[in-house]
Amino acid sequence: MQKINAFRIHNDSEGYHSGLEEVGLGEIGAGGVLIETLYSSVNYKDALAGTGRGKIIRHFPLIGGIDCAGTVVESDDPRYRPGDPVLATGYGLGVSHDGGYSPYVRLPADWVVAMPQGLAPRSAMLLGTAGFAACLASLRMERNGQTPGLGPIAVTGASGGVGSLAVLLFSRLGYEVVAVSGKPERSAWLERLGAARVIDREALELSDHPLDRSYWGGIVDNVGGEILAGLLPQVDRGGNVAAIGLAAGHELITSVMPFILRGVSLLGVNSADSRHDTRLAVWERLSSLLDAQSLDLVLNREIGLDELPAAFDEVLAGRVWGRILVKTR
Ligand SMILES: NC(=O)c1ccc[n+]([C@@H]2O[C@H](COP(=O)([O-])OP(=O)(O)OC[C@H]3O[C@@H](n4cnc5c(N)ncnc54)[C@H](OP(=O)(O)O)[C@@H]3O)[C@@H](O)[C@H]2O)c1
Repeated sequence: MQKINAFRIHNDSEGYHSGLEEVGLGEIGAGGVLIETLYSSVNYKDALAGTGRGKIIRHFPLIGGIDCAGTVVESDDPRYRPGDPVLATGYGLGVSHDGGYSPYVRLPADWVVAMPQGLAPRSAMLLGTAGFAACLASLRMERNGQTPGLGPIAVTGASGGVGSLAVLLFSRLGYEVVAVSGKPERSAWLERLGAARVIDREALELSDHPLDRSYWGGIVDNVGGEILAGLLPQVDRGGNVAAIGLAAGHELITSVMPFILRGVSLLGVNSADSRHDTRLAVWERLSSLLDAQSLDLVLNREIGLDELPAAFDEVLAGRVWGRILVKTR
């Protein structure tokens, strides 16, 4: 059986451990589409899964990586033919099904998305789950009445993967974007991405009242906890708040006042379980708004599969900015 080198995660008598190892090509996941991957990426969830800091993985051992992009090798589904460029994000990838940290991935055909016009495996993985989530937030907010006229959009965790792509995307959509970041040294970069202003997370004025002055037309929140609670009372009438992440905490202690007195909406964003038609709409929007050149702005660095553990530690320490691309071969 052909052997491949993949980044596999174990939880066994030796404890939680992960690393590059030889795996038989016939042993990886089940599914009708075999993909030769070129790139994957590092998301917060990958770091939780790879280190065991979060209970992400459903069964062990499992090849990590919630994103992948590459070329179809074989397919039992007429929608995909050998040679087709494709991508996949979410579903069970890297959670309950062998994921993208591998030169080959085998997937159910319904999980596969044809590479959108204008994107290549590299640019698709600069987006990955992070870009998908940012874009899904924009679609959910706009379907719920968000417009640039409602006021500025605050993006929290702005230097992170989702955050930096949200800054880029919402500015392309015509919004005034205010980036909230714990990395003031990344301010000039965030402005290049499209932020009108950058607020140092430490200097952010969080509200401890049920309602405050209205500063924000909406919020794209990647951090949760006290920051989300402190910004909610500052959202203007009819504004939308997309809850994407929990980098600062999963709890949200708040009041109903912004919802019942200002009609503010709190919208959940769940990229992993998005339906196929939603996925197509998200990728269509991403590929029509962001080209390879602008996506290169969010590139932190490219790494090999053997460099994943160090990248996971950096992500969980909140030190990473932008997107780390993973070369899978
Ligand atoms: N719902 C979904 O479908 C979905 C999809 C993708 C990601 N997510 C979630 O979204 C979040 C961001 O994911 P990501 O991949 O973009 O992660 P990431 O690249 O690590 O970015 C997270 C950012 O949050 C900020 N941050 C980190 N620790 C913090 C803390 N203790 N307090 C306040 N801010 C902190 C940092 O930005 P600054 O230094 O600039 O403040 C950091 O760069 C994660 O919670 C992830 O699980 C959800």
